[in-house]
Amino acid sequence: MAEILSGTNLAQTIRAELKEKTEEMKKQGTVPGLAVILVGEDPASKVYVRNKTKACEEIGFYHEQYNLPASISEAEILDLVDTLNHSEKIHGILIQAPLPKGLDFKNIINHIDPDKDVDAFHPYNVGQIMIGDFEFLPCTPAGVMELIHSSGVSVEGKNCVVVGRSNIVGKPQAMLLLKENGTVTVCHSRTPNLADYTRNADILVSAVGKAELITGDMIKPGAVVIDVGMNRNEEGKLVGDVDFATAEPVVGYITPVPGGVGPMTITMLMKNTLRAAQKWAKKKNL
Ligand code: GUN
Repeated sequence: MAEILSGTNLAQTIRAELKEKTEEMKKQGTVPGLAVILVGEDPASKVYVRNKTKACEEIGFYHEQYNLPASISEAEILDLVDTLNHSEKIHGILIQAPLPKGLDFKNIINHIDPDKDVDAFHPYNVGQIMIGDFEFLPCTPAGVMELIHSSGVSVEGKNCVVVGRSNIVGKPQAMLLLKENGTVTVCHSRTPNLADYTRNADILVSAVGKAELITGDMIKPGAVVIDVGMNRNEEGKLVGDVDFATAEPVVGYITPVPGGVGPMTITMLMKNTLRAAQKWAKKKNL
């Protein structure tokens, strides 16, 4: 029988710990603060941003939310980033992706103070992840690692296959698995015969955004399967990259969609914000 790895439950446990640590910090005089910038009207982004704000409230963070029109200029966003970089109340800055056409996400990210880059998207932090010496964890990959740890299966020496090579998930995911001594293969849309790779995976992480691409016959019996995908299938139902119905009888451990990786990503963002506030307080000798 497969064990379901619940991100909802794990996120709740970690958030309770973060809440306690936040209360401690507040007693020392620092309230961790997160600024979230949403540009335009993307409906999925609005939901993500609302959930991030809700998580801040749950844990006890100070938060500011900026809902900016799609017509805003890049220079105006950079001015706001600059103000937030210098704000004493804000320790983490997040620009919700994707940005409307005409705005350069990379350029805006490059303007965030790396010490406030709680998404770990700034090239400095990306470089630190590559070196394996990081302050901020890339949120989704870090959430995936927590879920793998919760299975009790060690990454060391395992065949780990990551499907997807995005800058947000696939690439940093490979680095985190490598840091724990996994043997890592990264597959993507141009990989021929994907099943030849996935069938050898003791740990399989899928982050391609293709509804139910990975079927049970593509999975090694007993594998740990982490599904980062959030897709709508033909009936409009929210599904992952993994076909849960055929995968579940084969796997050892599997994350559901929804209720798997999703709640963990935001929890890791909260963890990074707390870390950013701790770093800031240390610099200020608080
Ligand atoms: N859009 C989709 N995922 C993310 C994320 O992790 N961070 C930000 N800032 N935007 C996103």
